[in-house]
Amino acid sequence: PAMPVSQYDEQYRPAYHYTPPGGWMNDPNGLVYHDGEWHMFYQYYPHDTVWGPMHWAHAVSRDLVNWQTLPIAIAPDDQGYIFSGSAVIDTRDTAGFGEDAMVALYTIHDPVRGAANTRDHESQGIAVSFDNGRTFRKFSGNPVLPNPGKTQDFRDPNVFRDEARGRWVMSLSVHDHVRFYASTNLKEWTYLSSFGAGESGPDGVWECPNLFPITDEASGETRWVLIQNINPGGPQGGSGTFYFVGDWDGTRFTPDPDFGSDPVWLDHGADNYAGITWDNAPDARRVFIGWMSNWLYAQEVPTQAWRSAMTIPREISLNGLELRQQPVAELQQLREMAFALAPNASAQTVPSAAEYDLQFRLPDSDSSFTLTFSNDEGERLALGLNDAGHWFVDRTNAGDSGFNPAFAAIHTAPRLREDKSARVRLFVDNASVELFPDDGATVMTEIFFPSEPFTSISLQTEGGAQLVSGQGWPLKPADFGQ
Ligand code: FRU
Repeated sequence: PAMPVSQYDEQYRPAYHYTPPGGWMNDPNGLVYHDGEWHMFYQYYPHDTVWGPMHWAHAVSRDLVNWQTLPIAIAPDDQGYIFSGSAVIDTRDTAGFGEDAMVALYTIHDPVRGAANTRDHESQGIAVSFDNGRTFRKFSGNPVLPNPGKTQDFRDPNVFRDEARGRWVMSLSVHDHVRFYASTNLKEWTYLSSFGAGESGPDGVWECPNLFPITDEASGETRWVLIQNINPGGPQGGSGTFYFVGDWDGTRFTPDPDFGSDPVWLDHGADNYAGITWDNAPDARRVFIGWMSNWLYAQEVPTQAWRSAMTIPREISLNGLELRQQPVAELQQLREMAFALAPNASAQTVPSAAEYDLQFRLPDSDSSFTLTFSNDEGERLALGLNDAGHWFVDRTNAGDSGFNPAFAAIHTAPRLREDKSARVRLFVDNASVELFPDDGATVMTEIFFPSEPFTSISLQTEGGAQLVSGQGWPLKPADFGQ
C-alpha cells in the first residue's frame, strides 16, 4: 500500500519532539555542532514505516528546539546500508580532504549474510561534506576499518578528537564489549583496547557507544563517561542505555573503583534508546538525545505516516559518580502562561503538551503520590512515587497497546535519594512523558497511545506526602518547517 501523506497534525504526532515528516526513523547519528548549527542525522528508511535499507537523514537546529528537515544526506549503495555512527569537523585537515571538512563515520552493513557472504558483514566507512552536511561524498578508500574476522556485530563508530595526544579516537560496539581505535587521519585506524562489563552486566548486543570527557561538578576534575546502548537486556526489557564513569588514559578506559564494573541505567523507562551526545558543542556543553522507542515494538506502534520520535535534548552533567540529565534550557522558549497545579485530588483541565515542575514533601519512607493524566474515554497514564520508594510509570490502561503484549506495563525505577522532599520535572507531549526526578539523577522516558489526548490531571497523595508547589506550562508546538 502507498505510504500515507504526512500532515503534522496526525493522531499521536508530538508538538515539540522531533519526528520525521514521514517514513521510518531510528537512532540519532552524526551529532555534531558546527557554525551555529546543531546537526542531527538519523537512521532513516523513506519508503515505509518499518525498518529497511538504512539512510542517514538530516535535520538542523540553531536552538535545539526548532528543527529544519533537510534532504537525505547519505544513501545506501552496493557496499551496503548506512548504519549508525558519528560526525566530526576536521578543522586542521588531518584527513587531507580540506580544512573544516565535516566527516561522517558510519557502519557499512552488508545485508548479504551466511555462506554466500564472502564480504565483511559490517565494516566502517567515511564520507565527507563541504557544505555543512547538506551533501556528502563517500570516500573511495572505504572501508577505513575492515572487519577483522567477519564479526557479526562490529558497528556504530563514535569518534572524538583527543587533542592532548593529537589523534582521533573511535569507540566501536563489538557484540558484548566496546573496542577503542586511534587514527591520525581518519582513514587508518589502529586498535587500542577493549572494555566490557562485569559478570553481572546485562545480556544483549552492545550498540552505539559514546565516550566523552566531562567536568565533575563536585571536584572540578575531568572525568570520562562511557555511554553504551544494549539490546535486548534493557531495564524494562528490550532496548536500554547504561553508562560508566571512569578515566581515559589515551589508550584504555577504566571505570572508577567506586563506580565498579556494573553499569548504571541512564534511563529507567522503556523508550530511550541509541542515545549519544553532540560532539564539538559550544561552552563545553554535553547534550544528549535518544530515539524514543524500543526494538520490542518500535515497528508496530500505531502511528500512521511516520514512526518514532526523538527524546527532548538533555543537558548532561556529572556530580561525583552520578550522571544527571536536565531538559536543555532552550526548551523554555516554548512555555506559555504558567498555571498552578491544585494540591488536592480534584481533576484539573490541562493541555496535552506541557511541562511541569513539582515540589513534594515526603515525610515518611512510605510517602507516595500518583499523578493521573486521563481523557473522556476512561484511559489514563499514571506516574509518581510508590510506597516502596520507587518512581513509576503505569501505562497499563493508557490507550492502544494491542499491537504488542509487552507494551502495557508498570515500569519502576529505584529512588536514589533519601531526602524528605523531591523535585520532579515532567515533560508531556501527546504520546510521551519524560520524568526527571531528583535533579535528573533518575530519568524515565515512556511512550503511550491514547485514543484522545490526555487533557485532565489529578493528584493523589498518601503516607503524608504533600504537594508543596506545583507549576505547569502549556508548551507551544516547535517549528519543524511543517
Ligand atoms: C541500534 C542499531 C545500530 C545499527 C542501527 C541500524 O538501534 O541496531 O546498532 O547501526 O540500529 O539501523
